[in-house]
This record gives sequence, C-alpha cells and structure tokens, in this order.
Amino acid sequence: MTIHPDFDTPIERRGTRSVKWDAMQAAQGVDAGDGIAMWVADMDFAAADVLQEATKALIEKANYGYFTGETEMKDAVAWWMETRHGWRADPAHMVSTAGLGNAIAICLQTYTDPGDEVIIFTPVYHEFTNKIVNADRKVKESPLVIGEDGTYRMDLDALEAAMTGRERLLLFCSPHNPAGRIWTIAEQQAVARFCARHDLILVSDEIHHDLVYPGKIHVPMPVAAPDSVERLVMLTSSSKTFNTAGSRLGTVTIPGADLRKRFGKQLNALNLQSNLLGCELTRAAYSPRGAIWVDQLVAYLDGNRAAFLKAMNQIPGLQPMPMQATYLAWIDFSNTGMDMSEVLHRVKSDARIAPSVGAEFGTGGETCLRFNFAMPRARLDTAIERLQAAFRDLQ
Ligand SMILES: Cc1ncc(COP(=O)(O)O)c(C=O)c1O
Repeated sequence: MTIHPDFDTPIERRGTRSVKWDAMQAAQGVDAGDGIAMWVADMDFAAADVLQEATKALIEKANYGYFTGETEMKDAVAWWMETRHGWRADPAHMVSTAGLGNAIAICLQTYTDPGDEVIIFTPVYHEFTNKIVNADRKVKESPLVIGEDGTYRMDLDALEAAMTGRERLLLFCSPHNPAGRIWTIAEQQAVARFCARHDLILVSDEIHHDLVYPGKIHVPMPVAAPDSVERLVMLTSSSKTFNTAGSRLGTVTIPGADLRKRFGKQLNALNLQSNLLGCELTRAAYSPRGAIWVDQLVAYLDGNRAAFLKAMNQIPGLQPMPMQATYLAWIDFSNTGMDMSEVLHRVKSDARIAPSVGAEFGTGGETCLRFNFAMPRARLDTAIERLQAAFRDLQ
C-alpha cells in the first residue's frame, strides 16, 4: 500500500484553538504572527488520511449518542502493541481514560494516600510533578546523571540510599521525555526489581512508544520485565504518535486483577468514561494504514532530528542530548556562560522561538531548554537560522 503523507506543506494552526499556537503569546510572550512554536508536545502536520476518513464516517452517521466502540478500539490497541512492540496485551486488561495525564492522576488517587511519596526520575515531563503535588502527595526526585555517552542514566543506588519507607509508587517515563532516551531492557529490569524490593506500584508511561528512531527499539515494560506485571500499570496512547491529543483518550492496561479492580472502581467513582471521537481515532490509527503513516512520519522526524541536532551542536556552548526517541530535543546551555534569563531573552525575543523551560522538568533541568521539532523542514530551517543568529557572538 502506498501512502504519501505530506509533511513538508505547512498547515495553518493559528486560529484553530491550538494551545501551542493560539496560547503562545499569552503563555510565552512570543507573537504567533512570526514566532515559531517549539513548546507544547504536538506536531504541526496534517492528520493522517486514515484518521480523516474515520472522522468523516463518524460525522456522516449523525449519531453522537452512547456508543459501544470500546471493544474494537481495545482490539486495535492489542493488535498494535503486538505487531509494533512485541507485547501481547490482553484487551480484557484495558481501561480508558481521558488521556494519560488523567491516567496518572487516577493512579495517584487509587494507589496512594495524601502524604505518600511518589518517585520520579528528573528532569522529567513536568506534569508528573504537578499531578503529584496537586494530589497532596510528595514528589521524591531521583535525579538522572549524565553518562559517558552524554545521555541520562538512573542512579538506583543513590535512590536506594534515600528511601524512607513512605514511597508507594514509581512513575516511570519510557521512552523518556525530555531526554529522548530509550531505556535498555537491563535498566527496565533494574527498575522493576527496585519496585519489587520496596513494594512499589510501577506506573510505566510509554506515551512516546512509537516515536523511536531507526536502529532503536523500545521494549514495553511487561516484555522487558515480565515478573513486574502484578504490580504494573501500563500507560499507552495513540495521541503522540498520531497527533490526536485533543481527542483525550489514553489506554491503561493493568494485568493484575486487584490493581485493575481498584482502578476501575475509581473510574466509576469519578464517572470517567471514554469518548466517541477518541475511540474512533485510536481504532482507525492502530491499523495497517496507520502503521505505514507512522513509518513515514518517523523517517521525516529523523531528518529533522539530524538537521536540528547538527546545527545546535555547531553553536559553541550548546549541548544537545543525543536522541533515540521523541521529537523533543533537550539542550543544555550551561557552557554558554549565560544565565537562563539571558538565554531565554535570546531565544524568545531575538530568535522569536517559544521553547519549554527546563526548570519546569525538575532537578537537573535548570540550565536546559526543550525544543519540539515536529514541523515542516522549511520552518525548522528558519528556526535553526534564527537560533544561529541569536547566539552568533559565541562563534
Ligand atoms: C510522558 C508524557 N505523559 C503524558 C503526557 C500527556 O498525555 P495526555 O495528553 O494524554 O494527557 C505527555 C505529553 O507530552 C507526556 O510527554
């Protein structure tokens, strides 16, 4: 089957109620008129044809009542996980949430009590901390350390030494946002063993599972560490892969009967149910046509990654982290000798680019910015030129 997605032609997102573009001025102080949005983690590409067809078919039925589409959607998730990731997920173990931020929040409510500690490896996706703090639980940061290859490592020995006995849950990000790191099987097994040793619930957020660069393989936690399944809560979604975050649907797969029952009870207590559009988009996405689209997307993103990291590496003082996954580049500015306010002034005011601020990702992120490069290549070239100009005096 030939599918030719057009990733080069820009789509107009301004005026579409896009957070990334329409809230950029208010949130970032960068004018959307000629600014470039590189913050929120969604993509500036048109949706896949297979999604457009599913949406049109939905509209044509003129029927938005209660629906029964969950079964087909879960079967599609199971098919995708097995064919793309070698994981035999059982549809009977799946429940749906309104996205994965919602899934994390429900995990906290279900498996922890106020005051309990929740372990995260920082810097990490900033909503982990927000969810924990706003649930009146305590964040226990385990700072990542930079290895010889320039990418992050977990320091489980340091974490072990810092354990208090009040920890209940470990929230894992795999592949890692913002590092673009794929954890090895051995690293995942070490995390699973750590959770077993300390009787922790292991929540593995694998939302970036499909955005993996050629030559790299993401191994889902239940495949890497099958012994972990009785304490494991798996979070997956088609939303990063297919750019459907607005349809608010995440899949939570819980192999253990007791954990699944407790999660289901909490969902019912809050009356949280999936939505028709989210189910239809996920079902349509997780298909042979969707798979071809994703392969072409990743190839395109790989070109963007190469161009962006190469150019950033050439600016003295900038250290982009080598990436194995995601479209989110993590750049350390500490060797520029500038403080973050100066760096941000140059990026936002001079280059007119809105990045994500590293400090929001927790300890270790203070000197970094995160740049989303999921955009047409020509626009990325403009972003590169502007960043080069903004830091030209460092040459
Ligand atoms: C690791 C991680 N988890 C969860 C989310 C949010 O997921 P959702 O939009 O489904 O709430 C993101 C979004 O960037 C993410 O990077």
